[in-house]
Amino acid sequence: MTIEQRLQFLIDTLEKHNHAYYVLDNPTISDAEYDLLMQELIRLEKDNPHLVNPLSPTQRVGGKALDSFGKITHQRMMLSLSNAFNHDDLFAFDSRIHSLLKQDDPIDYVCEMKIDGLAIALEYKGGAFSYGATRGDGTTGEDVSQNILTIPSIPSFVTQPKTFEVRGEVFMSKKVLETLNQQRLKANEPLLANTRNAAAGSIRQLDPAITATRKLDAFFYYLVNSEDFQFKTHAEALDYLDTLGFKTNKERKVVKGIDQVISYIATYEEKRKTLPYDIDGIVIKVNDLSLHSRLGYTAKTPRWAIAYKYPPELVETVLEDVIFTVGRTGKITPNAVLKPVRVSGSLISRATLHNEDFFQSKDLHIGDYVFIRKAGEVIPEVVSVHMAKRTFNAKKVTMITHCPECQSELVKIDAMHFCLSETCPTKQEEKLIHFVSKDAMDIQGLGESNIRLLFQQKLITKPSDLYTLKDKKEQLDQLDGFAEKSIVQMLSAIEQSKKQSLERVIFGLGIREIGEKTAKTLAKKFLTLEALMQAKEDDLLTIPEIGPVAANALIRYFAHPTSMQLIEALQACGLNMNYTGKVTQISDSFFSFKKVVITGTFESFDRDQLTQLLEDKGAKVSSSVSSATSFVLYGSDAGSKLVKAQQLGIPTLNETQLLELLAKEKV
Ligand code: IVH
Repeated sequence: MTIEQRLQFLIDTLEKHNHAYYVLDNPTISDAEYDLLMQELIRLEKDNPHLVNPLSPTQRVGGKALDSFGKITHQRMMLSLSNAFNHDDLFAFDSRIHSLLKQDDPIDYVCEMKIDGLAIALEYKGGAFSYGATRGDGTTGEDVSQNILTIPSIPSFVTQPKTFEVRGEVFMSKKVLETLNQQRLKANEPLLANTRNAAAGSIRQLDPAITATRKLDAFFYYLVNSEDFQFKTHAEALDYLDTLGFKTNKERKVVKGIDQVISYIATYEEKRKTLPYDIDGIVIKVNDLSLHSRLGYTAKTPRWAIAYKYPPELVETVLEDVIFTVGRTGKITPNAVLKPVRVSGSLISRATLHNEDFFQSKDLHIGDYVFIRKAGEVIPEVVSVHMAKRTFNAKKVTMITHCPECQSELVKIDAMHFCLSETCPTKQEEKLIHFVSKDAMDIQGLGESNIRLLFQQKLITKPSDLYTLKDKKEQLDQLDGFAEKSIVQMLSAIEQSKKQSLERVIFGLGIREIGEKTAKTLAKKFLTLEALMQAKEDDLLTIPEIGPVAANALIRYFAHPTSMQLIEALQACGLNMNYTGKVTQISDSFFSFKKVVITGTFESFDRDQLTQLLEDKGAKVSSSVSSATSFVLYGSDAGSKLVKAQQLGIPTLNETQLLELLAKEKV
């Protein structure tokens, strides 16, 4: 046997044992025998470095730490699923499928666990692992191949020399999270909140050696190009993934009709708590693959699948205190301080009480037993008080009258209390944090803790001070935790941010009622800050997304001397105040210069959105069909315009075709 053959034999044998151990949970050799084979492989590779296969089991742990992840454009968009929260939603899903397919017989569905982790897409070429990517924005994800290969249940080589893409969920088991957290507790490190965050955080480590210590696992639930394999059903495709060597989830079941889906869901209502991993629901997929293409997709989700989410778990705990915090707009939020409890997999010790009306209506008392819940990413909330358990010394929660940070008197606007002081230190600090944040000016290297430090050291009090930090190098050098290199990086990121487009400045100013999306609309509409500042209420109200509340907030903001001082200071620092947002390369689009007529209703867009989208791509949208019309886009209930187009022989496009075209275009 040549060295090459022996190497290949060792790799194949170790891969087979790995599969038996990590995927089938059924070890075929002892640890000692496995180690012996591994030692031999290590030795042979050491003696023959030119023969080392990058996918060898010796190479899977311990790649070099990266500076950043590369980007991977998914061959097909990674979609998410629409949600069902109750039986009615499930019935609606089922009847829509029946009516779209014009079929009365019950549909075969595959019910699967909805694993609570992080979606990944893996590509295999000729049977060998090629890359692994995160979902990202659905179109482009991050190349996390090195980290993926640290997960022992993921094969480097599959059993057949096929080329395909497979999707699944990386997760951390409940037990692993518990062990990691016990270690972290001892080491005085912050605890990982839940298995999902832990899995996502671990996959996004730049150093694969750290990922390797997180003992991740993965289930695979979707073979992207099933049609190339001529499978008839999704269930067959999943069985095939097993054959290839992937770990699939064995709780899956093919059922007939929505009633059986409902029974399956009921079975797992309790059973899910005993599973070794967290799930956040059940995924229901049409089994027959030929129906997938007939049912098609909306912009973000397939029509042939839905995710059922179990109602959030209610947990009882003690309300130990209520503290009031100040946000960047001066809004005061009452927060419940709770005896820590585990809710839906996360350790909870705080919950929002929204505002005074909220806690008054629940008649909250300190010392009360309260029921809390947490649904997905939503901030935990106090649902109700267990009145029977109230004790005589429970103390009623009351609203504060003065700002807990600067003691100025609070002002009530609608249901909210505000600290209106311009010099309130917490407001200033929060405003700074918001200004540099990712969705605002996106100044990297200036995280929350840095801002707090710079603020406490009085090096910055308002956003414009950031741009004068470059003149305070000596003071920066003296700060703990600021290395020379990170100061240089930070200052350069601050300089870079001067070029950010107007919508980021508008959002970064932190004007009440003006979120990221509204800021963008305003920037696109007015193009310069100057023009926005001159806008009268009526001008603002002509914009569909701006209502009287937002218009008023803008007028009030720009009328305030402090705001004007800030804007002038930012201008003096050389900040760009113009919209430089991405303008679609009009000539690149299929829709450029086309005359389009829209008719009927669409699933994925409302009419305004669709018009905007086409206009952004350079189309001219008109309302009547003529011989000059390039094509007619029709939704459901399309009327005479579609008929006219057909009579005139003008091309027509339905929503599915439109989505396909859009998906092909790079944005
Ligand atoms: S199917 C087009 N199946 O849930 C196919 N997704 O809310 C889309 N997920 O992004 C995915 N378990 O990260 C599918 N058995 C399962 C799943 C599952 C977890 C995740 C996945 C997806 C998200 C959608």
